[in-house]
Amino acid sequence: MRIFQATTLFFVFGQLLATPSAAKQYDSPAIKDSTIMRSTVSCPDCPDRNCYKCTLGHDDKLTVNTGGLAYNRALIGFHMPVDGSQVTSCTVQVPAFVTPLQSSLNVTVNTANPSDWNEDTVDGENAPDAGDQIAFVTVPSYNNLGPIDITPACQGAVNGEFSVYFGAQFGYYQLWSENSGNPAILHITTK
Ligand SMILES: *[C@@H]1O[C@H](CO)[C@@H](O)[C@H](O)[C@H]1NC(C)=O
Repeated sequence: MRIFQATTLFFVFGQLLATPSAAKQYDSPAIKDSTIMRSTVSCPDCPDRNCYKCTLGHDDKLTVNTGGLAYNRALIGFHMPVDGSQVTSCTVQVPAFVTPLQSSLNVTVNTANPSDWNEDTVDGENAPDAGDQIAFVTVPSYNNLGPIDITPACQGAVNGEFSVYFGAQFGYYQLWSENSGNPAILHITTK
């Protein structure tokens, strides 16, 4: 009897110790994305030919372009399955470039706030503000982006959501969007 109780006690104690330290993994696809155009050239396909007024949230591609008068970035929004304070690391994997990179490129990732925008209405005038740059990745020509560490953005999620901007230091690229069936995917590790 005494042996049985001791065993039970050890078992329960062991469970208590093991449970809190078990890291968990989550794979969470993007819930929304859009190209945000901030370009002072004329955009014939946009309302009033004003690039800032184009809503592109339902397109199947995201276009990034920095240089000359163009300043277009890709805004991507995620749902967080866990509280930001639980996150120990977090990476984002975006799909392949629509066309192979002809030359090397520096990709930037910034936080974007607030995250309550939606694909029907987001445009260059009402898009969230870009915050801190949290990643800078050099991609050699004919390569694609691997997983990018964006832990600070995941940890800073508000009401279970956060957004980021993908940009370019200088240059042009296109990614498949969530609407094409190829969402960016978050890989989250918790405590
Ligand atoms: C990318 O950034 C590196 C480091 O700042 C710089 O040396 C290089 O010229 C940049 N490449 C491009 C294509 O902008």
